[in-house]
Amino acid sequence: MSKIKWKGGALTAPIPPVLVTCSDGETDNVFTVAWTGITCTHPPKTYISVRPERFSYDIIKKSGEFAINLSTESLVGAVDFCGIKSGKNIDKFKLCGLEKDQAFYVSCPIIRQSPLSLECRVDKIINLGSHDMFLSDIVGISVDDSIIDREGRMNLEKCGLLAFAHGQYFKLGKVLGNFGFSVKRRKNKKHIYK
Ligand SMILES: Cc1cc2nc3c(=O)[nH]c(=O)nc-3n(C[C@H](O)[C@H](O)[C@H](O)COP(=O)(O)O)c2cc1C
Repeated sequence: MSKIKWKGGALTAPIPPVLVTCSDGETDNVFTVAWTGITCTHPPKTYISVRPERFSYDIIKKSGEFAINLSTESLVGAVDFCGIKSGKNIDKFKLCGLEKDQAFYVSCPIIRQSPLSLECRVDKIINLGSHDMFLSDIVGISVDDSIIDREGRMNLEKCGLLAFAHGQYFKLGKVLGNFGFSVKRRKNKKHIYK
């Protein structure tokens, strides 16, 4: 195997295609974002990178708030639609059958069908070029109680979470190991690595 040299590009995979909700108090909107992730554990921080021409851009800039709603297999149609159509003249919630729930910490709605929503407040807007990065604090989380088991554990792995890789949507598959499994002593077996 040998490597081929390409110039730099925005190519990493998989990434989460999330449904971002926002509101200016009059209009609620939802759009798809794949340029997102965690930037810090304590304090919990995230980012979304948004092109200024998106209808949602000014709403988020003005309100300083948004929610990241994790997407699942049953939301894949909405994820694609909300990433193609602008909410400037249409109600994407209505057209996609997305039900609104009230967030706990921010004033924009969250999506009822999403198992977990990160409620975010914008800290800084950083102009990067094509996209502006909304570096934000995760001020709260709404979790669907149906994914919490009797022991109080969250079963996010059972939700059919979506991944986006090179233009295609996937559902997360087989569990290959738990965090730290590679250094755990296994019954009658050697460590994988020492
Ligand atoms: C899978 C997927 C990922 C996307 N990721 C982003 C993103 O990270 N940032 C962005 O500005 N637009 C992204 N888009 C495009 C916007 O979601 C799209 O332009 C949308 O129509 C904007 O909606 P709005 O005008 O109602 O705000 C993505 C679209 C898709 C389908």
